[in-house]
Amino acid sequence: MEDSDFGSMLARLSEKSRNEYYNPYTKFSWPDSVSEDAWWMNPEYLTVHGTGLVEDERTLKALARYETVNFFSLHVHGIRELMIEVAKRIHTPDFADYNEYLHHFIGEENAHMWFFAEFCYRYTGGIYPEAASPLRREGHGDLWDDVVVFSRILIFEEIFDYFNSRMGKDQLIPDILREIHAAHHHDESRHVAFGKQLVKRLHQRACAADPERRDEIEKYIKDYMTYSVRSLYNPQAFRDAGVDKPLEVRRKAMQHPVREAFHVRVMARVDRFFVASGIFGTPWGEGHVSA
Ligand SMILES: [Fe+2]
Ligand SMILES: [Fe+2]
Repeated sequence: MEDSDFGSMLARLSEKSRNEYYNPYTKFSWPDSVSEDAWWMNPEYLTVHGTGLVEDERTLKALARYETVNFFSLHVHGIRELMIEVAKRIHTPDFADYNEYLHHFIGEENAHMWFFAEFCYRYTGGIYPEAASPLRREGHGDLWDDVVVFSRILIFEEIFDYFNSRMGKDQLIPDILREIHAAHHHDESRHVAFGKQLVKRLHQRACAADPERRDEIEKYIKDYMTYSVRSLYNPQAFRDAGVDKPLEVRRKAMQHPVREAFHVRVMARVDRFFVASGIFGTPWGEGHVSA
């Protein structure tokens, strides 16, 4: 995409954000309670799906509740950290062209953080604490940091979108959950469109300044993808759902070939993007299909 095309894309996305702006605090009609008899998540999106590791319906339903809490908690913690990085960059010379859209991004993510947390506090014991990340890195303060930050945002958003786009239409789950997933999907389709073009540009800029670190960054982004799919398997959710031998079941589920193939599907779109834009020499998925 040419610079002028990216410029018009930014203008179009900003206009959409302005026109579709909503008040997150009044958008949803929160019911008094959400029934525990309902599936809070379609069982096909549970981390044990296809593994045969958990068969009992009561436990699976409980897992659907706690994995919903985990999923929403991941957004709250993940986007907090990334919003800090975006806030550091807005209105600085390197990001001048993106100011307008970054305002929408920060505003919309702030809204998402609120409604995801709100759901957890209203209907459950609240959000899960943040897991320690082995990939938290001290930035070098250079152009590669920009690539890393916006690649992480993109990966994060693509994972969410895989689930949100599907659960936003799923008649099996309670209305309030379907509405939350659908609202998030709606905003994120703009973020992802912007993110891809931005990451491509930031990568070109970093390569031109310091080509030596290219492989190191490819490895970092891939490790982040692995870490991100694993974060869906929260040991506390397994414990809270009353899964027998929770840690063992979690470990077995995470390594199950059916699940590894699923991880590749969740990541397929963003993986293709990284390869097509020359950011990856080989797809992440290549190292993750055991079949
Ligand atoms: Fe979001
Ligand atoms: Fe987003």
